[in-house]
Amino acid sequence: MAEKIRVLIPEEDVNKKISEVADQISRDYEGRPLHLICVLKGGVFFTCELAKRLTAPVSLDFMSVSSYGSGTESSGVVRIVKDLDEPLEGRDVLIVEDIIDSGRTLAYLIEILKQRGPASIRLCTLLDKPERRVKKQVKVDYTCFSIPDEFVVGYGLDYDQKYRNLPYIGVVEF
Ligand code: IMP
Ligand code: MG
Repeated sequence: MAEKIRVLIPEEDVNKKISEVADQISRDYEGRPLHLICVLKGGVFFTCELAKRLTAPVSLDFMSVSSYGSGTESSGVVRIVKDLDEPLEGRDVLIVEDIIDSGRTLAYLIEILKQRGPASIRLCTLLDKPERRVKKQVKVDYTCFSIPDEFVVGYGLDYDQKYRNLPYIGVVEF
């Protein structure tokens, strides 16, 4: 049976919020070069929209990880499917994610990336589901929207690889 998508956050609101967060990041880094790490695939739309609005010099790299797990729960044991192309040594790194759920994936990813000697690592996410957090140590530096515990799609997020291209955030109604 086909599922329905209910609009949760309209496109204008998403774009407005991304601009605000980008301004904040630009202020915080005060013109220092910023190395964005896009977590594929979900982070790709947000990364592009964010990067376009940053005033600091930006470089981009991409990483794809898959979390071993059963059903809908991620296990926190992450396999690197596609690693970064460039070293992180001495760089100010900003990880850009679509959504933080349990935080297991990010907790693991941050540990791996810290070992590569960046000058700093911060985390920026489009969406956060704080109620779902298991890994309380995952500190999110920049969040566009905190949302309730509902399954969302659009702006890079998928359900079964569908709906990533929706220009808004929607809730899947089964
Ligand atoms: P975590 O390790 O539990 O934080 O898993 C986070 C990952 O689960 C995200 O990067 C998404 O790929 C996926 N995810 C969590 N919640 C949603 C959702 O509501 N819609 C789509 N994907 C989600
Ligand atoms: Mg993701």
